[in-house]
Formats: sequence, structure tokens, C-alpha cells
Amino acid sequence: RHHVLSLADFTSAEYDTVLQTAASFQEVLSRRTKKVPTLQGQVVANLFFEPSTRTRSSFELAAKRLSADTLNFASASSSMTKGETILDTAKTYLAMGTDIMVIRHKEAGVPNAIAQEMDRLGVRVSVLNAGDGQHEHPSQGLLDLFTICTLLDPDNPRLELLKGKKIAIVGDILHSRVARSNIWSITASGAELHLAAPPTLLPKLFADFGKDRPGRLFIHWQLEPALKDADFVMTLRLQKERMTAHLLPSLREYHQMFGITRSKLQLCKPNVKVLHPGPVNRGVEISSDLMDDPEFSLIQTQVTSGVAVRMALLYLIGTTRA
Ligand code: CP
Repeated sequence: RHHVLSLADFTSAEYDTVLQTAASFQEVLSRRTKKVPTLQGQVVANLFFEPSTRTRSSFELAAKRLSADTLNFASASSSMTKGETILDTAKTYLAMGTDIMVIRHKEAGVPNAIAQEMDRLGVRVSVLNAGDGQHEHPSQGLLDLFTICTLLDPDNPRLELLKGKKIAIVGDILHSRVARSNIWSITASGAELHLAAPPTLLPKLFADFGKDRPGRLFIHWQLEPALKDADFVMTLRLQKERMTAHLLPSLREYHQMFGITRSKLQLCKPNVKVLHPGPVNRGVEISSDLMDDPEFSLIQTQVTSGVAVRMALLYLIGTTRA
């Protein structure tokens, strides 16, 4: 694989390769030196046309741990403010010798468009999608998968561990690229995936998403059936910046109906774990005390997993290219 733009066509073998490579980098990160020389001489450019804390910093740290040189771009402080286009910006980074472009944009399809342009130019540059509009966030989907699988078997994380598990994704599924990437990975595993949200944030078209895959997908417009006997609950941020007013009840009503709290978790399996990709609206999609409770919350573990998983992606792409 030359680019990573979506999880829609990921194979079981590819998931396992990423999980096992990430596990080996998790071990490297536990050492005192935390660094390997694998991508020495390669240039990783983080081209972020939309804000980010976790994804941008963990891709940068991952590249540095692999000894690559890193370039960081933020559109607000770039020559795009003077009218330079996205493709011309990418070509500028190409001219500086970039090997891997990590791209985030508020519009779906921008990483694909840049990847196509690089292929058209016949250059050996790889593109990693770091989140494009409402389309996909593949590295987040992979780090969520890694977080769950390493909890189930720390020594040998693999896709088949999810078989028979019940996983609920709750919240603003309509606007969530994280949900779309997770739908692909979880339905590839043979798990039961339950989506729950108000109807305005979970249109029926999701019923066809991931059809004909090993896992089964269920749609709920109430929270309770999704939580009942769940092993994992992934709650999502309400993306107010992408919403029009009519999509949402008040935040208080939303929290009452779909917010994840200790009392609602009693419907789940006793050792249920809660995930959230971040950033979190505390007290809206999840209660503040639950978010900070390490007995239930995997939110900080997800952030930690992000570095090892992004090292794995950069390593696999970077060494295939060489
Ligand atoms: N989960 C996620 O993509 O977070 P950031 O927007 O902070 O990168």
C-alpha cells in the first residue's frame, strides 16, 4: 500500500500487520532511548489545513521517534493566506524533498486529491489521511482498534480478538469521520457493532454502511439497546462547528438522553471500557467524572496508543517506499 486514505479496503492481514508493528513500537517507546533509526533521511510533512492537537503532535512525535526529519504546516500561518492553492502548497513541500505527507482538511477528499496529483506526477510520495471532513480518519480508527486489542491481549493484539464482542458507537455519527473509519475496522473483525444517536445525527443510510462484512451492524435511535451488555462504548464529540441548529436538542437534553454516565454504564458488561477520540465536550457526551476514571476510561490510553500506531504507519509506508 502506497497511500493510507481510508480503511474501507483494508484487509484482515493489513490490520494485523499494523497492530503487530504498533505493538513492537510500543515496546521501543517503553525503553529509555525510545528511538530507532529506521526513517533516517526521510522527510515527513504534516500539512494541517484544519486544527488538531492529538493527531498532529503524535504524527510529529512518531516521525521523530523513527529519526525522520519533520516539517509542520498550519494553513493559518502559511502562504495560503496570500492565495496559494492546496495543490501548489503540496508541490512546494514536494520540491523540498518530502517523502510522506500527512494531511488533514475540513473537506472530504483533499488527501485523495493530493495523492492522485502525486501519482500523476510520477513521484514516490506517500499520503496519509489525518482526517478529511466527514469522510475518514484512518489512523484514529487504527489506534482505537489497537487500544481495544492490546487490552484484550497485550502480547498479541490482532483483529480476531474482537470476534463476538459488542461495541457501541454513540453520538454525532453524522459528522464523524472517526465513526466511519471505525465502522470499517470493527465490521471487518466479526464484532457486533451498535450505532446509537438521535435520528438527526444518525440517518438511515448508515444501515447499509459496512454491509456484507464479517461483523453485524445495528442502528438505534435510543441509547439503551446499544449499551445493553456492551463490552466497549465509544462516545463521540458533538461537532457543533459542522451543525446547523435544527440537528440538535439542547446540550442538557442530549446529555440526559445520550450522554455516557456511570449509571447508564450499569446496562453494559461489568468490565466495560469507554473510549472517546477527543477532543471532549466534558459533561455533554460523557460525564466529567467518568472521563477521568481509569477503571472505565481508555481516553488517555488512546492518546498514548496514537504514537505507536502512527509510528507503525510511517514505518510500513516509509520502508515500502524505499
Ligand atoms: N482525535 C483527533 O483527531 O483529535 P485532534 O483533532 O486533536 O487531532
